[in-house]
Amino acid sequence: MRFNHLIAACLISIVLSISVNAQQPCTIKINAGKSIAKIQPTMWGIFFEDINMGADGGIYAELVMNRSFEFSNPLTGWTVQPKERTSPFQKQFAEGTVRVLNRQEANKANPRFVRITADHATKGSLGLTNEGFHGMGIKKDLQYNFSLLYRQAAPGIKMYVELVDSTGKSIGNTLATPAETGTVWHKQSVNFIASATESKAKLNIWFEGSGTIDLDFISLFPADTWKTRPGGMRSDLVQLLADLKPGFIRFPGGCIVEGRDLSNRYQWKNTIGPLDQRQLIINRWNTEFAHRPAPDYFQTFGLGFYEYFQLAEDIGAEPLPILNCGMACQFNTSEMVPMEQLDPYVQDALDLVEFANGDANTKWGAVRTKLGHPASFHLKMIGVGNENWGPQYVERLKIFQQALKAKYPDIKIIASNGAEFEGERFAYLHDEFKKTKPDFVDEHYYNTPEWFLNNASRYDSYDRNGSKIFAGEYAAQSDRVVSVKNKNNLRTAISEAAFLTGLERNADLVHMASYAPLFARVDGWQWTPDLIWFDNLHSYGTPNYYVQKLFSTNRGTNVVTALSNGKPLAGQDSLYISAVTDSNTHELIVKMVNSSFQQKQICFDIEGVKKLSNSASVTVLTGQSPEEENSINSPLSVMPVTESIAVKGKKVNLTLKANSLTVVHLLLK
Ligand code: AHR
Repeated sequence: MRFNHLIAACLISIVLSISVNAQQPCTIKINAGKSIAKIQPTMWGIFFEDINMGADGGIYAELVMNRSFEFSNPLTGWTVQPKERTSPFQKQFAEGTVRVLNRQEANKANPRFVRITADHATKGSLGLTNEGFHGMGIKKDLQYNFSLLYRQAAPGIKMYVELVDSTGKSIGNTLATPAETGTVWHKQSVNFIASATESKAKLNIWFEGSGTIDLDFISLFPADTWKTRPGGMRSDLVQLLADLKPGFIRFPGGCIVEGRDLSNRYQWKNTIGPLDQRQLIINRWNTEFAHRPAPDYFQTFGLGFYEYFQLAEDIGAEPLPILNCGMACQFNTSEMVPMEQLDPYVQDALDLVEFANGDANTKWGAVRTKLGHPASFHLKMIGVGNENWGPQYVERLKIFQQALKAKYPDIKIIASNGAEFEGERFAYLHDEFKKTKPDFVDEHYYNTPEWFLNNASRYDSYDRNGSKIFAGEYAAQSDRVVSVKNKNNLRTAISEAAFLTGLERNADLVHMASYAPLFARVDGWQWTPDLIWFDNLHSYGTPNYYVQKLFSTNRGTNVVTALSNGKPLAGQDSLYISAVTDSNTHELIVKMVNSSFQQKQICFDIEGVKKLSNSASVTVLTGQSPEEENSINSPLSVMPVTESIAVKGKKVNLTLKANSLTVVHLLLK
């Protein structure tokens, strides 16, 4: 109700603030008839990294934490019931035992399992409880799919599977009765409907009866995953991504590609195939920040490279995988593979292209086909390294470039320009890239809102003969980089919008851009700010999300000139403008940012067209104050509001609100 009132108030104020006047002289001229650059379909994309519990505990909908007992502490996330008994590794009870066993030689990827021995156990006397990812988000009337792997010599133990709310009350249960016997593992699946909504539910498995049974890979998924894929992704989170209509998705990182050391690097081949054979590793964000420890943060790879490609396809985004270049994170160990041992890393890149695009007659194309996707994923580009720098990076990159271009000349290569956007390291790579000319250079910018406002002209005078630019990671920091005080507020969002007008104006050079990081759990983050926040049941887009969305869903096809007194409007009087046309919809789309704390009158003349439609749509993103944010409780406080206005002639007068991004659509006749 409160929200509807707010929208109504916003609409009224927009209507009052917009007037169209055919008489008044304008200093801003937009030539809608002359394209100065094409805008790539990839222009506005997303960058997914498993940070802030973005994958496990986030978009990957698995509710059980440490389902295969492979975390460093095998019972992390689990409690043997009743709680008060003995050590977590070897629980002794009158009614039975829970032990952790390790079959290292027999199953290297997933060695641990639990052995339950029960002696006349009853519900309540012997069990295992999983706490999920800071609780489990459960929805009333939704089906939940429980499964596990088991092995037993003879039937004897039944499992009473139940979800309980935060008070311990059952909100859904079923019975699992393993029937198969022998020395091999079997899968048992059961499902049930939840009777209540709960954000902090737990899963109990009570053992009943007598005997011994081995259990592994205990899993619980909601049925309402994205595209209802079993074992899939959280649909609310994927929907937020799909709504951005992203041109590409960069994955899986970020620093997790590099790893703290090379053994902890991301290796895509370990992330495909049977889930229980995807050997998990510690997530480097587990230990990265002493001030934000995340001891229960691992990468189980339930969301692996096959799923990433599938996600890209689902949301219509070009896949952009980033691979380790033979160097671990240079902020951590800087460990490097010697040049003479780089081959397996290069081979991983070559094999990845084959995995994505090869037909069923190729080794890796056959693997993809067997996983259920005979058609190509149409991979067109690959990133070599994340934030790498120095001569060691250059010499490794060259080897990747030669090998990839020799076998796949059409695959575009994205090189890293390190972690900085200026300075000695940046300049060194910048000069090197003039010689080696990778297709794209990935630049990252984490800085103050003022930096973003002052750098809207960054690319106006960049060299046009070198590599194209991928603005791969950016986010305005309301405090400072890695400060826990950073907020996703309107001010940061508007400063990013100003910067994006500069990227758009230079779309001949800048072919891709993505905000970072993408996701954060409200109770499990390591890094802020982030584009989308969520808890176990809810999710919301930040003001920064709506800036991205306004650019990506109003991409257009061609940049046209928008000049004020003959120059791009990039900060003069706190105003920023970029304009595009869309050859499919025959529209002119003008994006305007007012970064000042006062409203501003502006006027633009539209040239190069015969006639305009007599109405325009005007969408405004602003808020009550520069500090305003969205939140779980108030997810839509800052969001775009659209109104239609009348247009006469080819001149438009607008009042731009303080701290605002305004997008105007005009039909060209
Ligand atoms: O986006 C968070 C981190 O910032 C990324 O992992 C890394 O590339 C950058 O330093």
